[in-house]
Amino acid sequence: MEAMKSARKNDTEDVGSDLSEQIKAATKDSHVRAENTTLMLDYQKGKITLPQYKLLLCSLYEIYRALEEELDRNASHPAVAPIYFPQELARLQTLEKDLEHFFGSEWRQRVIVPAATVRYQERIRRIGAESPDLLVAHAYTRYLGDLSGGQVLGKITQRSLGLSSKDGLSFFSFPGLSSPHRFKQLFRSRINSIELTEGRREEMLREANTSFLLNIQVFDDLQKMLSVTTTEAEDQSEGDAVKSKNMFP
Ligand code: HEM
Repeated sequence: MEAMKSARKNDTEDVGSDLSEQIKAATKDSHVRAENTTLMLDYQKGKITLPQYKLLLCSLYEIYRALEEELDRNASHPAVAPIYFPQELARLQTLEKDLEHFFGSEWRQRVIVPAATVRYQERIRRIGAESPDLLVAHAYTRYLGDLSGGQVLGKITQRSLGLSSKDGLSFFSFPGLSSPHRFKQLFRSRINSIELTEGRREEMLREANTSFLLNIQVFDDLQKMLSVTTTEAEDQSEGDAVKSKNMFP
């Protein structure tokens, strides 16, 4: 009897009927893999460097540009509308501000990204054009991540880089939200309100894992870019370390 009870408890814990719970359960292993990339491990150890952070910002800029343009374009789609929160969540302007802080007014010419970031961006654009409902999976992975572990990463970034003010850290800040925790609950309940066929629901879980995988590939590529450029960076001024957008075609 006890065994049956606990089996049932685990069943409901592992495979709840809410879509948000299903996405969380389906991406659990991917989350562990993302946390264990070299870049994220460096982060957790407080070892993030300015070149690492600047490169990460460049990729986040391109990722959010694609994500937010596609969310805007599909804002009235029945699956997108419930999770469309530009006032509360939009990151593009915060990233522009941070990039200007670190690279100066000509920052647009300094944005460089690895191949994985281009692939991520292309995936989001294709999803936006062909299967807008699956934008929910991409919004979930990025925004709920930013509102969860991302909040700790913001504090670590400030400490690791020895930044005395919030300049350069706008990305981590959500002034439109009084409680990230409560907002995450709202976001999850909005995800749960989306009506999907069983097939699309499975597609959504797959896309959420794809989204995590694309993030992992971006982190791995950034790490490679840094190891290629570290030796150059020792000889040159730090800002000139990576010069060409075509370095990683
Ligand atoms: C949730 C930590 C990296 C996406 C969480 C939570 C923690 C956490 C503690 C749970 C918060 C809660 O339940 O309220 C971390 C740490 C990371 C990291 C320490 C790396 C240093 C990432 C990355 C992504 C990500 C790279 C995706 C790109 C998510 C998502 C959630 C989450 C989507 C929400 C899960 C849900 O409630 O459905 N993270 N995370 N995380 N994280 Fe991460």
